[in-house]
Amino acid sequence: MALLKIARMGNPVLLQMAEPVTNPGAPAIRRLVDDMIETMLDAPGIGLAAPQVHRPLRLFVFHLPSERTGQPNIPPSVVINPHFTPVGDATMPRIEGCLSLPGLRAAVPRWVRIHYTGVDCDGNEVGGEVDGLHANVVQHEYDHLDGILYPMRVTDFATFGFNEELSRLPPATEQDA
Ligand code: NI
Repeated sequence: MALLKIARMGNPVLLQMAEPVTNPGAPAIRRLVDDMIETMLDAPGIGLAAPQVHRPLRLFVFHLPSERTGQPNIPPSVVINPHFTPVGDATMPRIEGCLSLPGLRAAVPRWVRIHYTGVDCDGNEVGGEVDGLHANVVQHEYDHLDGILYPMRVTDFATFGFNEELSRLPPATEQDA
């Protein structure tokens, strides 16, 4: 296990279209996933995509502690070669941060409910229909695989700023991912 260096906004790797993972069970992928989970928990964050650790591959890790969601704990998990589709057409602004833009957050329009799919390192199907923070983190991490950082989706720049300054606004619904 090892902590990985996190690329910050401006690094070209964050703008690349990531490549599909051809062998999710490969030892190198399992090691990368383990290291990404360790790096995410250390940061701390609730999600981390492979391009953020300089590996332009289509996979991300996330976790959803029950105290954040009021729902059963989702332990650190990987989603490899993900796809998602919106369920319905409702969107809402979500307050997001990103480990590649430390100290900043903004309101980002996101689908309220999505259905997503992917596999884990054993080839098991993962995903399902989700909403709330779960839907939010999947959309944020998926964007990283297409070279999209959340500021590219901000529509109300009055919500974009440093955490300490924005703490005067209502509490954030998101944390760094
Ligand atoms: Ni991010």
